[in-house]
Amino acid sequence: VAVRPENVLVCGGFSSGLQLLSTALRRRGATTMAVEAYGLRLHRDIIEATGLALVDLPVDDRGAAVDRLGDTVEAQAALLTPAHQFPLGAVLDPARRRRVVAWAADTGSIVVEDDYDGEFRYDRQAVGAMQSIAPDRVVYAGTASKSLAPGLRLGWLVLPEELVDEVVEVRRCHGRFPSTLDQITLAELIVGGAFDRQVRKARLAYRRRRDRMVAELARRAPDVTISGIAAGLHALVHMPDGHTEGEIIERAGARGLAVQGLRDFTARGFERAPALVVGFGTPPEHAYSAALARLAAALDRSE
Ligand SMILES: Cc1ncc(COP(=O)(O)O)c(C=O)c1O
Repeated sequence: VAVRPENVLVCGGFSSGLQLLSTALRRRGATTMAVEAYGLRLHRDIIEATGLALVDLPVDDRGAAVDRLGDTVEAQAALLTPAHQFPLGAVLDPARRRRVVAWAADTGSIVVEDDYDGEFRYDRQAVGAMQSIAPDRVVYAGTASKSLAPGLRLGWLVLPEELVDEVVEVRRCHGRFPSTLDQITLAELIVGGAFDRQVRKARLAYRRRRDRMVAELARRAPDVTISGIAAGLHALVHMPDGHTEGEIIERAGARGLAVQGLRDFTARGFERAPALVVGFGTPPEHAYSAALARLAAALDRSE
């Protein structure tokens, strides 16, 4: 499906796009947005600050339980990470994709597709965007935060026709426009092919980092398991029995390494077995070996 340029709204990263969109949905009378029970607290806070209530969808290895929408969950919008659930790593399966799109069509609801790391797939074929099967119900949200740098604060929304004017109006009154210079620069990188080259180079580099992490942990902490690594820049590291997240985070901190626990990304009532959410894209190249060694030492029972 060809995207009409008039339907693309550039914003200050995904978080800004989410804020604009939530405000527009609230203004048109929406009261509730469904979200995955695992995700970034910032996104939950942004949605709630616009006056929308949140309702949590459980997540399993086929992605979010979207079959609850319109059944036990009442909402007028749903925020999903269909290609690579953040942070658990599942892909939303085809039956559920069809289901959520049918729900949106039947009820006039809006699905927000947060494709935050779509450029970084390693072991499997590209996952198609849901927006292409229902462009009038799905907002596709992209960002330059993973492909280039989070500090750029550049993202884009591909909006259903019916939302364009409303979201543009919210952005106008917001008074915060992404820098034109940054937009032109990114456009030139894309048109000239440099963006593509950068993404390909980065994909290879991150894939190597991922493989090194898997190998290092297999060697030094063989009782941990790793999941969610077919794409993206983070891994879920499941810890051996008897360890708490707090204890490992403290052990890592004592070695100069900051890591987060799954608990930080979990809605109340959805707690799972202890795990770390490890962002392997974060350390600079020269510090990656040391960071890996510290992570392994924090997880190594014999240390
Ligand atoms: C789930 C998820 N969505 C979106 C983003 C990107 O957010 P932004 O574009 O505001 O930097 C991230 C990046 O960290 C993320 O983890």
